Amino acid sequence: MLNKIKKILLKKNKTKIVSLTAYSKNIAKILDKHSDIILVGDSMANVLYGMKNTHQVSMDNIIQHSLSVRKGIKKSLMVVDMPKNTYKNRKQAKKNAIFILRKTKCEAIKIESNSKNYEIISHLVKAKIPVMGHIGFTPQFKKKFKVEGRNNTELKKLIKEAKLIEKAGAFSIVLECITPKAANIITKLLKIPTIGIGSSSYCDGQILVTDDILGLSGFYPKFVKKYINLNTVIEKAVKKYSKEVKNIKFPKKNNFLYGK
Ligand code: KIV
Repeated sequence: MLNKIKKILLKKNKTKIVSLTAYSKNIAKILDKHSDIILVGDSMANVLYGMKNTHQVSMDNIIQHSLSVRKGIKKSLMVVDMPKNTYKNRKQAKKNAIFILRKTKCEAIKIESNSKNYEIISHLVKAKIPVMGHIGFTPQFKKKFKVEGRNNTELKKLIKEAKLIEKAGAFSIVLECITPKAANIITKLLKIPTIGIGSSSYCDGQILVTDDILGLSGFYPKFVKKYINLNTVIEKAVKKYSKEVKNIKFPKKNNFLYGK
């Protein structure tokens, strides 16, 4: 029986890998039917908590949401983001990664590259912890948003980074907001699957933040496609409920639990 990570690896050059983020059981349960990978992303900082960046997300935040997400997943591979400052050295990274894996029963963790932490990945992989890498725009380490790979120096740097992450033993790598050319070259060079966000269709798979595609987050840059405007749908339902409560149309007698 192939484990979930092997199944993801086998998709390379055969079928595209579908990935989305989830922070709760109800959403994870819906995604699970149509995704290969579900990420409990530290994007919860902006999306759920209204923080200005991902830097304040704690181990407790990530673990609580992962416990909820775990309850909604049966078939997808569950990956959990390691929060900023929880993998500053090998010892700390291993301790925290093991804690996340044991506590949440996720199958893998993701760590962002700071162009130096390859030996942390390799240390985790040696301890049998499956790691997903992340290069390009890595919000834990880069303050200013910028598409990377637009000149030769940046392109070479991205390729080197991707190769070193693969060499360190990561089973897959997120390419965030890099040029189509860079995504194409890296995807062709690596044996592990590349998962793109804002990085063209040349990647082996795609990931987006679920609240963005559902029209809930209010964050719709060019690389996001809003598949539905749930804000409007929810508002319509809430407006109707509000009106019915005020007009004593809800609850009706058939909603009463006992008697008349
Ligand atoms: O935190 C997150 O949601 C992510 C994805 C955008 C890749 O890291």
